[in-house]
Amino acid sequence: VLADYGISPTHGFLPEVLPLTRLPDPYYNKWEAIAANLQALILSKRLRGVVDRLPVLSTIGLEHDAEWRRAYLLLSFMAHGYIWGGDSPSDRLPPPIAIPLLKVSAHLEVPPVATYAAVCLWNFKPLFMDEDIDNLENLASLMTFTGAIDESWFYLVSVAMEARGAPIVPLMLTAIAAARENDANAVTKCLNTFAERLDDLTMLLLRMHENCDPTIFYNRIRPFLAGSKNMAEAGLPNGVLYEDNTGTETYRQYAGGSNAQSSLIQFFDIVLGIQHRPTGEKAAPPSERGREGHPPAPKHNFIMEMRQYMPGPHRRFLNDVQSVANIREYVEQNRSNTELCVAYDACLAMLRALRDKHIAIVTRYIVLPSKEVRARSRSPEVARRKVNLATASRQQPQGIAYDARGAANAAQKAADEKKSNLKGTGGTALISFLKQARDETGEPAIEEW
Ligand code: HEM
Ligand code: ALA
Repeated sequence: VLADYGISPTHGFLPEVLPLTRLPDPYYNKWEAIAANLQALILSKRLRGVVDRLPVLSTIGLEHDAEWRRAYLLLSFMAHGYIWGGDSPSDRLPPPIAIPLLKVSAHLEVPPVATYAAVCLWNFKPLFMDEDIDNLENLASLMTFTGAIDESWFYLVSVAMEARGAPIVPLMLTAIAAARENDANAVTKCLNTFAERLDDLTMLLLRMHENCDPTIFYNRIRPFLAGSKNMAEAGLPNGVLYEDNTGTETYRQYAGGSNAQSSLIQFFDIVLGIQHRPTGEKAAPPSERGREGHPPAPKHNFIMEMRQYMPGPHRRFLNDVQSVANIREYVEQNRSNTELCVAYDACLAMLRALRDKHIAIVTRYIVLPSKEVRARSRSPEVARRKVNLATASRQQPQGIAYDARGAANAAQKAADEKKSNLKGTGGTALISFLKQARDETGEPAIEEW
């Protein structure tokens, strides 16, 4: 059953067949050659020229899914390198990238951008084949934009988490079946194991700090993961034009890469019956919630939207699990079973703790560095203005001094506005979004019902 959804019982949402390190057909050597030099080409700002001169290669030489996934990895990295690897972003992708990328994405049922699947799920190799891939010390990234170890580490922490979390998928499907058969002991056992694994995942998440430097992440890595949706400020007011030579091209807009596209974490929410509402929406009072265990159909929200960025089979898996998820309902019906309730609550507490640690990471890796950048960009402005003021005041003492103060105030105001506009690469108002997601994780604590 799992295999039908492209899920491996041992690797979870990571592919059962390890990602290819190059496309076997020499026809694709030109892509591989660019990929091999991607960082240098970006650094020297020569990627765009090279891509513009590339012939449009056909997807006809791609056979197995592993090959399609490798092609997607190559093309989506080239695309983001092309868009973001210049002095200003490019709002067009030329035919040599656009045409095959659209084909490959359609085949894999992913959007034609660097999704979590591209940068994490399909972008790793084990260093030693006889060792596990849930061990960060046994992983390497296949592609990066910068060549920085910080970038590899950023992706690999997620890979290790996916691998370590993989056994939770069959485990919790067993729990769903056990609940259906009213086997409370089995459900409790599964939930306890799940809680322990969640704790392991949090430990892995915290290892982000070991080798990913926040300043490098924020200034060097993150810009390449950006999307083309709501990116007017960053220079893409219309999105990106995929020049596929059909004559019907229109600008397209996509969210940037985000771990919100991880099917594993969404699986946890679904299996525990956690509901995420659109940002800013409060929980309905219990009386207005749907029938027990059957919450009203979720409206459009960011977390749901991110399912569109998952590989098609994974997305279908989540939808199907959602229709059979029964654990929360089962726990509610068996509230006198203390062990069961404690085990369920432990899972909620662990998942909430994971989200708590994640928020701390986002503060350190995005919020604080963004303040530094703003402070830095302000100070030379202020210094320059002081110089202007000094020279100008010799001519027109009063008027200029007044104007300069006004300008400084305006600059401060603009900076403050920008601050409140801080967005995740996925496009959320990060901290308020993440805090809500965390709080929703704690919400259904059984005691309160
Ligand atoms: C969402 C940042 C690493 C899991 C988000 C969001 C941001 C963010 C800003 C909000 C969505 C958006 O607009 O993009 C970061 C940073 C990281 C990091 C700066 C490391 C430096 C991770 C890792 C995981 C993860 C390793 C693995 C579990 C999630 C999940 C969401 C999310 C599941 C969706 C919200 C939720 O379900 O609570 N992240 N993230 N993140 N991130 Fe991360
Ligand atoms: N979603 C992460 C960010 O906003 C990667 O930086």
